Amino acid sequence: MTELGSKRLQGRVAFVSGGLRGIGLACVERFLAEGAEVVLSDLDAADSAVVGETMARLGQAASYVSANVAKEEDWERAAALVKERHGKCHILVNNAGTDLTGAVETLSLESWRRIMSINVDGVFLGTKHFVPMMAESGKDFRGGSSIINVSSIMGLVGMNEVSAYNASKGAVRLFTKGIAIEFAQKQTPIRANSLHPGFVETPLLKAGFQRWVDAGFAEKSEDLVASVVGATPIGRLAQPSELAAAAFFLASEDSSYMTGAELVIDGGWTAQ
Ligand SMILES: NC(=O)c1ccc[n+]([C@@H]2O[C@H](COP(=O)([O-])OP(=O)(O)OC[C@H]3O[C@@H](n4cnc5c(N)ncnc54)[C@H](O)[C@@H]3O)[C@@H](O)[C@H]2O)c1
Repeated sequence: MTELGSKRLQGRVAFVSGGLRGIGLACVERFLAEGAEVVLSDLDAADSAVVGETMARLGQAASYVSANVAKEEDWERAAALVKERHGKCHILVNNAGTDLTGAVETLSLESWRRIMSINVDGVFLGTKHFVPMMAESGKDFRGGSSIINVSSIMGLVGMNEVSAYNASKGAVRLFTKGIAIEFAQKQTPIRANSLHPGFVETPLLKAGFQRWVDAGFAEKSEDLVASVVGATPIGRLAQPSELAAAAFFLASEDSSYMTGAELVIDGGWTAQ
C-alpha cells in the first residue's frame, strides 16, 4: 500500500468541488498530504467562519473559491482562478452532490430538476470548463490528467424511494465512460473514472438518515445506522478518508492504464 503523505502528487494541481466537508474535504486533505496544491470550492461565502477555520488549518498549498457547481458562470470563474493562480490543473474531483428521497409520485419536478442540476449538470460543467487546461497539463505525465467523478453505489443499483438520486448517479457513471472514450479516441491526455462510495459517515449521510426518521421509516438515526451496518459485509460505515484513498489512487500514476472504469468502495454492499 502507498505510504500516506509520500508526496507522490508533488507538482500536481488538483481541484475538488464540495471540498469543505465529508468526502471532498478528505480528498483535499489527502492530496495535500501527497504534495499537491489544491483549490477547493463549495457554496459557503469566502469570508465565512467555516472557510476561515478550514483554510487556516489546510495551509498555504490550499485555496478556496465560493462556487455553485450548478452554475456555469461559477465554473468559468473557478477555472480562470486556477489558471491564474497555478497555470495548470492535473486532477479534478467532481465531488459536490446532494440527495433526494421520497416515493416517485410525491417528488416535485422542481426537486427533481434541483438534484439533476447539482449532481449531473455540476459534473458536466466541471468537466467542460477544466478539460482545456487539464489536456495541456496532462502531457507531462504517462497517465495524463485525471478526472474523478463521484457517483455512488446508488448509481449501480436501485433503492426504495431513492429513484431521483439513482438516476442522477447513474448519469454520472455513464457520462464518465463517454468522456473517457472521447479523450482516449482523440489522444487527449485525460483519464476519467467514477468512484462509487457505499455508506460514508459524512454530514450528508447524517442529514439523510434524519430525513428518513422524520418520514417515519425508523424511530431514530441509530436504528438506520444499525440496519445499514447489518447489511454491509464489512460491518461498519466507511470513513471519508477511505474514499480519499481511492481518489488518490485514481489521481496518481498507479492508475495510469485505468479509464472509463468504476471503483466501488462499499464494504461489499453491492457484492451480495
Ligand atoms: N456520504 C455517503 O454515504 C455517500 C455515498 C455515496 C456517494 N456520495 C456522494 O459523495 C459526494 C460527497 O458527499 P458527502 O457525503 O461528502 O456530502 P457532504 O454533504 O458531507 O459534503 C458535500 C459538500 O458539497 C457541498 N455542495 C453541495 N451542493 C453544492 C453545490 N451546488 N455547489 C458546490 N458545493 C456544493 C456541500 O456544501 C458540502 O460541503 C456526493 O456527490 C454524494 O452524492 C456520498
